Parts: sequence; C-alpha cells; structure tokens
Amino acid sequence: MSEINSIRHFQETNDFNKIVFERRSVKVYDPEVKISREEMTEMLAEASRAPSAINMQPWRFLVIDSVEGKEKLLPLASFNQTQAQTSSAVIAVFYDKHNIDYLDDIIGRSVELGYMPQDIADMQLQQSKEYYAGLDDLGLHTMNLIDSSLVSMQLMLVARAHGYDTNPMAGYDKERIAETFGLDKERYQPVMMISIGKAVKEGYPSYRLPIETITTWA
Ligand SMILES: Cc1cc2nc3c(=O)[nH]c(=O)nc-3n(C[C@H](O)[C@H](O)[C@H](O)COP(=O)(O)O)c2cc1C
Repeated sequence: MSEINSIRHFQETNDFNKIVFERRSVKVYDPEVKISREEMTEMLAEASRAPSAINMQPWRFLVIDSVEGKEKLLPLASFNQTQAQTSSAVIAVFYDKHNIDYLDDIIGRSVELGYMPQDIADMQLQQSKEYYAGLDDLGLHTMNLIDSSLVSMQLMLVARAHGYDTNPMAGYDKERIAETFGLDKERYQPVMMISIGKAVKEGYPSYRLPIETITTWA
C-alpha cells in the first residue's frame, strides 16, 4: 500500500468534480460539528503531499479547535468573525523562517527510505545549500509564500474530500497571530488562515475571468 493510501481513513468522496468545482468559500458552519484531531491530522498529512521548492515543506499549521483557542482568535479575526465563531477549526498557516534547519533531515530520510541514492542526495544537499545562500530576504519570503500557498490550496481540496468546507482568509491580525498563541513571531511568518467545518449556508457563486484574458499562447 502506498504511503498516502495507508493514511486515508476518513475520506468521504474521491469525486474530482465535487471536490474542485463545488468548492466555494463558506462563511457559516454548523458550530456543533467537531473534527477529531485524528481526522485533522490525516487531512494535514494529505495536504502536506503538496509540492514545494527543493521539497523544503516550509509550511507550519496552528490548528485552533478549542474553545479557549477560539476565544483568543476572535479579537484577531477582523471581519471574519462568523467563520472564526462557527467553524470546527481555524487553521493558521505559517511558514518557518528557520526551515533550512530541516534540510539535512529531509534529504537524509529520503535516502533511508530508499527514495534517493546517497550520491544524488549529497549533490542535492550541496546544490540546495548554495541555492538558499544565494537568495535574498525577498527571494526567500516569496519562495516560502508560494510553497505555503500550495499546501493551503491542497488543504482546502482535501477538506472537501473529507466532506468539509473552507474559507481562506487574509483578514486577520498578522502582527499578533503568532505571539498570541505562544509562537515565535520572528520565526513563524503568517501566510493565511483557513476556516473548516460543515456548511450550514452555501458559499456564493463567484465569477471567473475568461481564459482569453488570463492566458497567452506561444
Ligand atoms: C489569500 C486569500 C484571502 C482571502 N481572504 C478572505 C477573507 O479575509 N475573508 C473572506 O470572507 N474571504 C476571503 N477570501 C475568499 C475569496 O473572497 C474567495 O476565494 C473568492 O471570492 C472566490 O470565491 P470562492 O472561494 O467561493 O471560489 C480570500 C481568498 C484568498 C485566496
């Protein structure tokens, strides 16, 4: 059994159309619905199959699913009070500025698991360290934001596969989110928050720009 199949216990649908085309940002959830930490862990593991530059996986999740956690969150949740109040959980996605510390481990484990031969691993380790050393702050920030956005999107789709709805949110106090929950503010950089739960009110339909506006063919 593949690694990903071995962690799937809770999935509700594998219907691609239901997952992708019926996803809408949902603001009002059934507050009685709880998501177990076991299922949430499974969803985070599935989302973490997202790709990332040099497989660095810089994303980190703060899962706010307790009454006390929600109480701390509400003053930071700006105009997104309903999502924060009614959802089963709000997941604050951060990236870890110290993520380079995990590079040796990520590559070492790939060798141990037989995913990569030692000589390729040695070469990748050296190249990756050089690549990182050559990035300025903006380059690093952009790369980490891209990776963390990919995992966020994947989490929203995974949630649909588990029968839940989500809302990505930029409207929250990014200055205070880390320290409010005891995380090092300098190290954990905010990306977005995602509310998750069972919808009681459908999301609104939303317009998309035509393909000819957003596409250039060459
Ligand atoms: C990065 C990001 C930030 C967003 N911030 C908010 C937010 O703070 N509050 C909110 O209600 N919706 C927020 N949205 C949801 C968008 O308004 C929504 O995705 C868009 O209108 C398209 O609708 P759909 O998600 O239903 O397809 C955000 C979406 C993204 C991707």
